[in-house]
Amino acid sequence: MDFTDKVAIVTGGGRGLGRQYSLELARRGAKLVVNDLGASVDGQGASDAAREVVAEIEAMGGTAIANGASVTDANAMAAMVEDVLDRFGRIDLLVANAGILRDKSFSKMPLDDYRTVIDVHLMGTVNAIKAVWPVMTQQQRGRIIVTTSTAGLFGNFGQTNYGAAKTAVIGLMNSLNIEGQKAGIKVNCISPFAVTRMSESLTSPEIAAVMKPEHVAQGVVWLASDEAPAGVILNAGSGRFSTTRIVESPGVAFPLDAARAENVAEAWARISDPAGERAFGSALEHSADFLQRAPAAG
Ligand SMILES: NC(=O)c1ccc[n+]([C@@H]2O[C@H](COP(=O)([O-])OP(=O)(O)OC[C@H]3O[C@@H](n4cnc5c(N)ncnc54)[C@H](O)[C@@H]3O)[C@@H](O)[C@H]2O)c1
Repeated sequence: MDFTDKVAIVTGGGRGLGRQYSLELARRGAKLVVNDLGASVDGQGASDAAREVVAEIEAMGGTAIANGASVTDANAMAAMVEDVLDRFGRIDLLVANAGILRDKSFSKMPLDDYRTVIDVHLMGTVNAIKAVWPVMTQQQRGRIIVTTSTAGLFGNFGQTNYGAAKTAVIGLMNSLNIEGQKAGIKVNCISPFAVTRMSESLTSPEIAAVMKPEHVAQGVVWLASDEAPAGVILNAGSGRFSTTRIVESPGVAFPLDAARAENVAEAWARISDPAGERAFGSALEHSADFLQRAPAAG
């Protein structure tokens, strides 16, 4: 998959996964905008991380510019896009990857750690997409990749803030895909598994050797490509690729006068039986199907 003459923005591109996405896209010919505040894992401070990756790309013979803004600053994201248009004239891909952690059990988590984590992961993703959306709409083409986590999909102790923010980007993706369809914009979601400074405390050197950001980057390349699907949650790590979907069980439809909690309890095994589960392309499609299977409405 060749990205020659394509322009890609990677937020949080200065370290870990984002750095590797930037290097791999550049290796495949893309012109890169490496955005990174250069913050610590918990989001404090700033550094030259973006410039260092730009230097690596230039050393490979590639083209890249650094942007040191925070994704939480909507005006700075808009200014970044202006700079990119001045320099490269188009934007083909946005990888919204910047992220931080503020882990604590729910009872100890200060409300500010919800606001901060949601601001970076959800609003940071929104701010970056908001800035590129009119450009991609005008081009009638675009690829956007948002970043979730297994902690968002399935939950993790000490990550109620991070988990909520990471699931929120899936809701964002689902509706954006519907709004972007006519403009040829495809939005997908990566759920990475890689040892970076964010995850190194959870693992051993043996695991680190086989869970490299390089392997996740190949999944990002696929989601960035011309042939990319839309609305997919792609889990990627250590050579394995799989998808996670939101599905609905066929369930049970009672006559209205029997729709009582006691009957729900009695039929619970059938209501929650995963056999025949299905996914839907939109709320309209789901609502129509749901009501059609409810005898009173259908
Ligand atoms: N490593 C994993 O296994 C894993 C698993 C699931 C999800 N993720 C997600 O993948 C993404 C990348 O994580 P990573 O493991 O590479 O972590 P990392 O800490 O190595 O990299 C994150 C980068 O984001 C940058 N950043 C933080 N706040 C920023 C802001 N406000 N504006 C701009 N840049 C900012 C940091 O400076 C850093 O360079 C994150 O969204 C993370 O939640 C990672």
